[in-house]
Amino acid sequence: AMKNELSRLVQTVKDQDAKRHFDAEMQSFFFLFTRYLAERAKGEQIDWERIKAPAADQIVPYDALPEPADKSILTKLAVLKVNGGLGTSMGMTGAKSALEVKNDMTFLDLTVRQIEHLNTENRVDVPLILMTSFNTHEDTLRIIKKYANQQLRIVTFNQSRYPRIFKESLLPCPQSVEDDKKHWYPPGHGDLYNAIAQSGVLDQLLADGKEYLFVSNSDNLGAVVDQRILRHMVDTGAEFLMEVTDKTKADIKGGTLIDYDGQIRLLEIAQVPSEHVEDFKAIRKFKIFNTNNLWINLKALKRVMEQETLDLEIIINPKSTDDGQQVIQLETAAGAAIKHFKHAHGINVPRNRFLPVKSCSDLLLIKSDIYSLMHGQLVINENRLFATTPVIKLGDHFKKIAQFQKRFKRIPTIIELDHLTVTGDVYFGRNITLRGTVIVVANEGQRIDIPDGCVLENRLLTGNLNN
Ligand code: UTP
Repeated sequence: AMKNELSRLVQTVKDQDAKRHFDAEMQSFFFLFTRYLAERAKGEQIDWERIKAPAADQIVPYDALPEPADKSILTKLAVLKVNGGLGTSMGMTGAKSALEVKNDMTFLDLTVRQIEHLNTENRVDVPLILMTSFNTHEDTLRIIKKYANQQLRIVTFNQSRYPRIFKESLLPCPQSVEDDKKHWYPPGHGDLYNAIAQSGVLDQLLADGKEYLFVSNSDNLGAVVDQRILRHMVDTGAEFLMEVTDKTKADIKGGTLIDYDGQIRLLEIAQVPSEHVEDFKAIRKFKIFNTNNLWINLKALKRVMEQETLDLEIIINPKSTDDGQQVIQLETAAGAAIKHFKHAHGINVPRNRFLPVKSCSDLLLIKSDIYSLMHGQLVINENRLFATTPVIKLGDHFKKIAQFQKRFKRIPTIIELDHLTVTGDVYFGRNITLRGTVIVVANEGQRIDIPDGCVLENRLLTGNLNN
């Protein structure tokens, strides 16, 4: 039934070139869908008993990597940002990377600064590649347009657009190729491999003499090119490296590296049988998690794409539509490809290589005076007295980006803040300073306005300021 529906969708395309492209896309989708059905029929799940913690030599501590002697290897490097996601948990409808983070610059602008700096400092020509999706392509082009006449080479390619599937009938949601955006989805960053190969970008990079690709999330400003890791990759002949970092109690969701029958693998929470989820979240057994900073040997990638079929574990992402229908999205993760590469292993990196923005609380921290910028890189403000960053917990009223922007007229000064909790209907004025531990709680039906110029130091605020 799925096959018929897909052919019907293909028939709705008028233009011949567009039709060919769409047909190929639907075939890749169908391949993923068939794998999903086969796994569902087998009831295949990961066998918990066979999971072992990775051996010591499968995760190399960053500190053990030597300082590289020469930098010539940079000429063989390209940098890629996966930039197809929306940040739906923050209520975004455009690319998250198009958000302004600091000094009127977006994530993308800061990434450009980082690479420009790398290139001028080392007199190299590392290109920046952006993987976009139908959801983020326009935002991305709008931002990078201004760099068209600059030295830095920026290449974009679009990832796939797959149809959402009704959970019950297992039929595609869209009725025609032009059907509304909400019926389609980008199938996760694991789509990177198909998309880079099919777009011709992989061949172009190889033709340009590039051999190594550094991949990271577009919202991770901590993911700068690290020459020690690159050198290590060359020296060990590892075809794939995954940067992992120590897990804290707050990082319960990230995937982890495991040893499965002697093979290194990524384990995502979506693959964990429900009775072992608590086990997975515990930091005792799984000590590290995937930052999604990945280093890939491009020749090896070409080989894998030609000689093997990529078998990335399918992540089933359930969603409900505006009119309450249950649908699923079949997705894959880029890190899952680790099992296809030779000498692949993890590098345990310092936490500052993982500074993602997953929520508006993360965004507040990054926008604040806790961080300053150096060549597009976030560095802790030298005037901060503690080595740690403050813990910020904004409540549900701040969950969506539009609400966040409305509720903070300006980002407060928080250089001396340790902890901030805000719940309920709260608005912040201009030039506010928060110090120590500050807790603001507006009860149901109550609104708190923190006025311009206010200084709150070790305060618990539950009503209006005059109480
Ligand atoms: P995530 O999907 O893990 O998280 O994407 P997110 O973007 O923070 O969004 P929500 O809130 O879960 O929706 C991690 C990185 O992978 C990219 C995103 O752009 C982000 O840089 N990504 C995600 C893609 O490139 N394609 C996808 O299909 C999904």
